[in-house]
Amino acid sequence: MNRIDEPIGVIGGGRMGAGIAQVFAAMGAEVTVVEGDAAAAEAARERIRGGLDRAAERGKLTEPVADVLARVRLGTDPAELPAGAALVVEAVPERADLKVAVLTAAERAVSPETVLATNTSSLSIGELGAALASPRRFLGMHFFNPVPASKLVELVLGERTADDVRDRALGWVRALGKTEVVVRDSPGFATSRLGVLLGLEAIRMLEEGVADATSIDTAMELGYRHPMGPLRSTDLVGLDVRLAIAEYLHRTLGERFAPPRLLREKVERGELGRKTGRGFHTWPD
Ligand SMILES: NC(=O)c1ccc[n+]([C@@H]2O[C@H](COP(=O)([O-])OP(=O)(O)OC[C@H]3O[C@@H](n4cnc5c(N)ncnc54)[C@H](O)[C@@H]3O)[C@@H](O)[C@H]2O)c1
Repeated sequence: MNRIDEPIGVIGGGRMGAGIAQVFAAMGAEVTVVEGDAAAAEAARERIRGGLDRAAERGKLTEPVADVLARVRLGTDPAELPAGAALVVEAVPERADLKVAVLTAAERAVSPETVLATNTSSLSIGELGAALASPRRFLGMHFFNPVPASKLVELVLGERTADDVRDRALGWVRALGKTEVVVRDSPGFATSRLGVLLGLEAIRMLEEGVADATSIDTAMELGYRHPMGPLRSTDLVGLDVRLAIAEYLHRTLGERFAPPRLLREKVERGELGRKTGRGFHTWPD
């Protein structure tokens, strides 16, 4: 079985960052998770503990939860990242200014050999990397939700990402037991571009009264063997998150990504999907 013996850093211990920390720690890595403040750091630890408990219940851990958790250290400042970290993955909210701030702070804390990665779903790797002293060491490592169960990591290469950095990232993806797709830095990469387009068209079909939400989802689940229909999938991602990505793709790729009226209305009403109990479907607590 693969083990990862290198120190790893994660910035932002939310839904994605906690999952990323969990999978690296479960493979043997010492993981430092940096959060915004002490309360958020404590919440991140509990998120990671919860994820490890679920993995243990499913028989996916080779060690007791406490042993894995003992390899996870929480901090509140990128300066606390270990200088010898092999990789730092940034998973703070999808705002370029925030991502640039934590990535440049991380770059100052670590050695020149450390690979820096962002988990962004849509932002330009070139633009984020331009703020770094060494953009050659930077790439997108786009994990999927929930991280432990998802098989895919989309590796997004900026124009200046070095080949050895791509190869090291590929090594970590495979050591985690996941599969990579390698894509060029372009708006929405491969996954968000296709996934968002399908979701937006499904919302337009709902607006036009082509069918109800369950029927649209069932059409793709049974007809095209998608594991989840486009509206259910939008509910899981979060309607606000989808809207933000659609607005960005609309600006960069054009009219076909124009957010439908119904999506804006639902976001305004606070119907954000599973996290609020209602989106295109209703969700139990
Ligand atoms: N949720 C998904 O389905 C999904 C999937 C793939 C990629 N992503 C991307 O992953 C990133 C994180 O998304 P998420 O869903 O985990 O968000 P989230 O809101 O659950 O987590 C973000 C975390 O960052 C922390 N944070 C905020 N400011 C910080 C700072 N200055 N320093 C350190 N930590 C800080 C927050 O406290 C929070 O815990 C985004 O770029 C998102 O686009 C999300």
